[in-house]
This record gives sequence, C-alpha cells and structure tokens, in this order.
Amino acid sequence: MNSMFTTLFCLICVIIGVNGLNNGLGRTPPMGWNSWNKFNCTINENLIKQIADAFIEYGLKDIGYKYLNIDDCWEGERDEQGYIHASNTTFPSGIKALADYAHSKGLLFGIYSDAGFLTCAGRIGSLGFEDQDAMTYASWGVDYLKYDNCNNGSIPEQGRYEIMRDSLNATGRPIFYSICEWGTSQPYLWADSVGNSWRTTGDIALGWSSIIDILQQHHKITQYAGPGGWNDPDMLQVGNGNLTIDEQKSHFSLWAALKSPLLLGFDIRNPPADTLEIVKNTEIIAINQDSLGKSVNIVQSTKYFDIWTGELSDGHVALLFNKAESTTTIKLNFTTHLNIQGEISIRDLWEHEDKGVYNDSYSRDVPKHGIAVLKLTGGTKISEFYDFIDQYNSYALREFLINYSVFMLIFIIVIFQYYIRYFCK
Ligand SMILES: *[C@@H]1O[C@H](CO)[C@@H](O)[C@H](O)[C@H]1NC(C)=O
Ligand SMILES: *[C@@H]1O[C@H](CO)[C@@H](O)[C@H](O)[C@H]1NC(C)=O
Ligand SMILES: *[C@@H]1O[C@H](CO)[C@@H](O)[C@H](O)[C@H]1NC(C)=O
Ligand SMILES: *[C@@H]1O[C@H](CO)[C@@H](O)[C@H](O)[C@H]1NC(C)=O
Ligand SMILES: *[C@@H]1O[C@H](CO)[C@@H](O)[C@H](O)[C@H]1NC(C)=O
Ligand SMILES: *[C@@H]1O[C@H](CO)[C@@H](O)[C@H](O)[C@H]1NC(C)=O
Ligand SMILES: *[C@@H]1O[C@H](CO)[C@@H](O)[C@H](O)[C@H]1NC(C)=O
Repeated sequence: MNSMFTTLFCLICVIIGVNGLNNGLGRTPPMGWNSWNKFNCTINENLIKQIADAFIEYGLKDIGYKYLNIDDCWEGERDEQGYIHASNTTFPSGIKALADYAHSKGLLFGIYSDAGFLTCAGRIGSLGFEDQDAMTYASWGVDYLKYDNCNNGSIPEQGRYEIMRDSLNATGRPIFYSICEWGTSQPYLWADSVGNSWRTTGDIALGWSSIIDILQQHHKITQYAGPGGWNDPDMLQVGNGNLTIDEQKSHFSLWAALKSPLLLGFDIRNPPADTLEIVKNTEIIAINQDSLGKSVNIVQSTKYFDIWTGELSDGHVALLFNKAESTTTIKLNFTTHLNIQGEISIRDLWEHEDKGVYNDSYSRDVPKHGIAVLKLTGGTKISEFYDFIDQYNSYALREFLINYSVFMLIFIIVIFQYYIRYFCK
C-alpha cells in the first residue's frame, strides 16, 4: 500500500516536473575535516590554511580526505545590498581567498550556514536570503554547505531545506548539501531528494556515552543510506581526547560502516600518532567508500555486545562490537548474522591479517569498548527474503524476554494471587 502511494506520488512528481537533488555529488560518503569539534567558534583564516597544509603533510588528501570545511563563526555582516561578508577580523582576506588556497592544494572547500534568522552561534543566518547566499558561496568557489537549524522561527524543516536546495541548484555549481536538522523531523524519510546527507541525531559530544547514544538511534534507519544521500550521525571525535584507543577504533569503524560522512574533527596540525594510524586505516576507509553504498545493519544486540553486518560490492563486512566493561567473546554465525553459507574467508581489518577459511561461524575475544572488523568473502546467499530488521527484532524480543523473565514471573504470580483471592472464594 505504502509503496503504491510512493509510486503514484513519484509519477505525479515526474509529470509536474518536481526537482530532486540530482547534483551528482556524494556517490560515496564525503571525507574531510570540519572545524567545530575541536575549535568551535575560535577559527581564523591562518588556522584553516595550516589545516590545509597538514592534509598534505600527513598524507590525508592522498587517501581520500578532501573536504576542508569551516563551521559556524566565519560570518561577518550583511552589506546594504544584503550580501554576506566574512568576519573582517578573523577572515580579513575573505572566503574566496581561502577557497582558492584549498583548491591550490587539491582540496575542496566547505562552508556553514543556518536555515534560520541566526546561526547556532548567533551569527547571521540564511533564511530569506537563500538565493543571494547560494550565489555568493558559488562565486567564492564553495564546494560543500553544512546547513544548520537554529533560530528557525518554528517553520517546518522540509520547506526551509528545499529552498536552499533549489538556490544551490540555481547557481549551476555542484555543491555538496549537508542537511543538519538534528533528525527532528525524520529527515531520512524526505531528505533523499533534498540533500546529499542528513544529520540523524543531536550533536555528538566528546565522550563514550554520546557514541553509544547515537548508535542506539541508528539501528532502525540504516536502510535509508545510499549513493547520493547518506545518514549522518555527526562528525568524528577521534583524536580529541576523552576516548581510549579501542573506543576511537570502534567509533571510526562504526561510522565508516554506517556509511556516515567521515569528517575528522581533531587538530590535524598536531596529530597524535595513534590517531593518525586510526583515521588512515585504508581498509576501514574502503568499507566506507565501497561502491555498493549499503550501510551495515544491526543483527544482534545484547547488553554486552552488538553485531552489525552488511553487504559490500565484493563480499560482506561484520563488526563485533563489545560495549561491556571487560573482554567479551563474540561469535559471528554466518547463517543468522549474514544469511550466507559455504566456505568463507575472513580478514581482520584492524590487524591487517587473513584469518583463514571458516564454514559456520567465527569467534573472537574483543577488548572492552573495542571492535573487530571482519571482511568476509566467498559463500552463497541462503534466502532471498532475509530481513535484517526482522532478524534484529527477533533477537531483541528474545533478549527482552530473558532480561525481564524474573519480573514477568513475579508479575504473573501476583496477578494469580489476586485472582485466587477475589474470584475463587
Ligand atoms: C539542478 O537540478 C537539475 C534537475 O534535478 C539537475 O539535472 C542538475 O544537475 C542540477 N544542477 C546542479 C548544479 O545541482
Ligand atoms: C571552544 O574551543 C576552545 C578552544 O579549543 C575551548 O577552550 C572552549 O572550551 C570551547 N568552547 C565550547 C563551548 O566548546
Ligand atoms: C568590519 O566589520 C564591522 C562590522 O561589520 C564594520 O563596522 C567595520 O567597518 C569593518 N571594518 C573594516 C576594516 O572593513
Ligand atoms: C526549530 O528549532 C528548535 C530548537 O531551537 C527545535 O526544537 C525545532 O524542532 C526546530 N524546528 C521547528 C520546525 O520548530
Ligand atoms: C569527557 O567525558 C566525560 C564523561 O562523559 C565528561 O564528563 C567530560 O566533560 C568529557 N570531557 C570533555 C573535554 O568533553
Ligand atoms: C567445510 O565443510 C566442507 C563440507 O563439509 C568440508 O569439506 C571442508 O573441509 C570444511 N572447511 C573448513 C574450513 O572447515
Ligand atoms: C547458527 O545459528 C543457527 C540458527 O540459530 C544454528 O542452528 C547453528 O547451530 C548456529 N551455528 C553455530 C556454529 O553456532
């Protein structure tokens, strides 16, 4: 029924010529850097140029990180004609000069604005000035726009975000359009024809609980990520402290496999060595950039661990994620977790090691808050009609029954007692 309406609706769209996004960008998730997680409002043009230099110096550009994105606080004032200018104290050379600098290094340049009267940091927003701002960005050579949702006058999201889509389109310059409305209006249901990515949750914080919290909100929307339009669980906190090495590996791996944009958020001028090793793991990056563009799905979740699996253009990937406070043995069952059978070759993408060929399952000890990322090749599909969400729900129901069985038993006994007391006198 639902799909019939969708088909009908799309047919009407085609007939009356409603535009989708179609800017040709984001066939794989964008990779780059954004200033917010580390620097928030304390940015200036020299800092951003140094970051551009560091992209090259540390080999990040060569492995795919190409967007150099500034977040809020670059804005100055609008002039009498309504044109926005960069802050003349922190960006005195203007944004065009900075974009030119990024381009001269072989990078792409991204900017920030807000679908509201003011940005989240209280600078000037774009609501009501969409056409003019989009033209300005295009004239500066901007390649990416992150578009926030503060001070929005309570106007519904979709319409506000569509106006900017059309304004960007009218410039004729392909500009990656990153919708940042924090998941409040279920953007995964409408944003595919509006933006190249959409935030699915509130802001990520610098701590383990924030990562767990975001993942919790993701397991039901994994099917909406695909080439040209990606779920965005927010920018990476790898390298910003407050997370152990294993936690950072888990964070990076899960974001990569969820097909999130991979936007680094640390000070790459002074990268901690272990951070570089994590974000430069090209085998994990290859999962993110796989041409099939399918997110992993959660297929089992217990109090102690989660298993996420998904298809790749040349095999499968499985993530064994230990949420517990101590090492946990996690068993991957090829039948139930992957819907494949036969002889399966396994490669560990953090140990960079082939683990051999297995028939039914593969078990691993995974450290506290750590992860094993396995690439599986070979085997054949068991069922055409396998639904990972159903699979997860059946596990979830079982976990629920196990966890609450004692309560339910007590509840039943209590009810039974009342029943006997009042009705069986
Ligand atoms: C503008 O939209 C049209 C129609 O969807 C599309 O074909 C074109 O590529 C878009 N151009 C840009 C620059 O986004
Ligand atoms: C903004 O960044 C500065 C410098 O890194 C830091 O001292 C400050 O606490 C940050 N403020 C917020 C609100 O995160
Ligand atoms: C800088 O911007 C402020 C506020 O927009 C303005 O009053 C001032 O004249 C500008 N200074 C220069 C040198 O352009
Ligand atoms: C507008 O912003 C507020 C927070 O500032 C948010 O709660 C709300 O969901 C946003 N959207 C609308 C349509 O009000
Ligand atoms: C680190 O995480 C803890 C616990 O989540 C939090 O209380 C603390 O504020 C965080 N530190 C920073 C710098 O964000
Ligand atoms: C897998 O099963 C087949 C058939 O039972 C057997 O011949 C083969 O040796 C097994 N392979 C491994 C790696 O256990
Ligand atoms: C995998 O799961 C299936 C279905 O629950 C079960 O029959 C099978 O024994 C499991 N295999 C292993 C190796 O645990």
